[in-house]
Amino acid sequence: MPPRSLLDVDDLSNEELVAVLDRAVAFGDALPSRDLLAGVPVLNLFFEASTRTATSFTLAEQRVGADVISFAPGTSSLGKGETIADTALTLRGIGVRVIVVRHPESGFARRLADAFDGHVINAGDGTHAHPTQALLDLMTLRQEFGRFDGLHVAIVGDILHSRVARSNIVGMRALGIDVTLIGPPTLLPRDFAQAGVRIERDLDAILPRLDAVMMLRIQRERIEAGLLPSLDDYTQRFQLNRARLRALRDDAVILHPGPYNRGVELTDEVLDDPRSRYVAQVHNGVFVRMAVLDLLVNGVPVAA
Ligand code: NCD
Repeated sequence: MPPRSLLDVDDLSNEELVAVLDRAVAFGDALPSRDLLAGVPVLNLFFEASTRTATSFTLAEQRVGADVISFAPGTSSLGKGETIADTALTLRGIGVRVIVVRHPESGFARRLADAFDGHVINAGDGTHAHPTQALLDLMTLRQEFGRFDGLHVAIVGDILHSRVARSNIVGMRALGIDVTLIGPPTLLPRDFAQAGVRIERDLDAILPRLDAVMMLRIQRERIEAGLLPSLDDYTQRFQLNRARLRALRDDAVILHPGPYNRGVELTDEVLDDPRSRYVAQVHNGVFVRMAVLDLLVNGVPVAA
């Protein structure tokens, strides 16, 4: 058996997914001793900018006692023409056992995992997947509602370019959450619809029916100029603001993976609103990542 990797949420069975969340909750209640990954060399390889994910992984790695190596791939030999396979061989030879990778190309994490005789954790590849973000979102939802089945969650905004949306759709569907995607046709094509995933264009009509709304940033860096919606039109139709906050139920919650753009997908009031769970999300991220590291390297007993 090759070492296990986490490239997207569906690399985990439902039982494992729930076990990871349980484990993350337990780590949040009481930090484990630092010997879970004692002496295991973990490399953070971030080819794309990251604030939350990179810091959160680093802290998670330290909290399970790993030997953490972070380096700027801009200065790596991949830029000198070395293939992924040769880089993977080199890193394994040096002793690296886990690589946490973020890359602008969809599928990069898979290619690395195919070449590397160790564990790979996808920290975001292009527009494809970002499994640990989805896990921390699911942890935050479960903390709030104590269940998944039958919850109604809307993801709003630039779905087309969002690896966060894609991984969340996979995880939420697996757990029985009803998902509604909301955005303009240029950022949300019809082919995102599938069993359990609806597409809507009218945020106001949906808001009062939601348990949770996840707001997404417009990913300007991934959008061809012509596809960018007019900002005025976009904020009128899709911005979460004071008026729309009134339409959201008192017991609903607001999620955002960050980074958020104040004045675009949300206004200041949203971040100050008691229903906002942004801070809980980033807080949970560390524990989820500790649990994923533990699962991949040590295995986690799954209750029968
Ligand atoms: C996201 C990402 O990088 O995919 N941020 C994150 O990891 N929390 C979303 C984004 O960049 O908008």
